Amino acid sequence: MKKITIAIDGHSSCGKSTMAKDLAREIGYVYIDSGAMYRAVTLFALKEGMLTKDAFDTEALQKRMGDIRISFRLNAETGKPDTYLNDTCVENQIRTLEVSQHVSRVAAIGFVREAMVEQQRQMGEAKGVIMDGRDIGTVVFPNAEMKVFVTASAEVRAKRRYDELTAKGETCNLDDILQNVVERDRIDSTRAISPLRQAPDAIVLDNTNLTIAEQKQWLLDLYRRIAEAD
Ligand code: DC
Repeated sequence: MKKITIAIDGHSSCGKSTMAKDLAREIGYVYIDSGAMYRAVTLFALKEGMLTKDAFDTEALQKRMGDIRISFRLNAETGKPDTYLNDTCVENQIRTLEVSQHVSRVAAIGFVREAMVEQQRQMGEAKGVIMDGRDIGTVVFPNAEMKVFVTASAEVRAKRRYDELTAKGETCNLDDILQNVVERDRIDSTRAISPLRQAPDAIVLDNTNLTIAEQKQWLLDLYRRIAEAD
């Protein structure tokens, strides 16, 4: 079967990465989490003191963009790729609520997006990749053979994120997470550059009432239909 490019976009916390990772493992494709890249830039800005609750020194970040190297390495134990920032594994640090609360602001900046999109295109050059994010089917790979736009109710998405964080031992509050989910949707969909929107040729998957097994099968069936016809 010919190798294709698979773009999975959609709202935050609707299980895009889980489904993309599962499909990649099943069909032997490379999985790239583009949101992790924006999270890694956010972590860098927080650690360097450029970004606080009240202020964001974007000029300082722009000057240091060349010092940010993001890569993914397969974790032999989990079988999943971990995110590295300048050779340090930051997979857990980029998933905290603090990073989630700042990442939309960082992802709305033009020079950040330009740098990330360039890296994403390089990573996907060889095809056989599944990338998830907000602008993969619209901006990064507008010619992707398979495009999926995932959504689910905000309440269901907040509960899933809450379960994920508490399973990792983080103390969190469901209302704070729901607020964060709604706020990120708002910023992601209304920003001037590459806002979150459904590509006209994307197929919508509303997984509010689907189990992980059901959505896995849905995705696999779609992939087979597209890859076999291509
Ligand atoms: O998928 P995620 O929640 O890890 O993404 C983190 C943030 O990064 C999210 O608020 C939107 C942004 N993002 C983006 O703007 N473009 C992408 N391709 C991926 C993520």
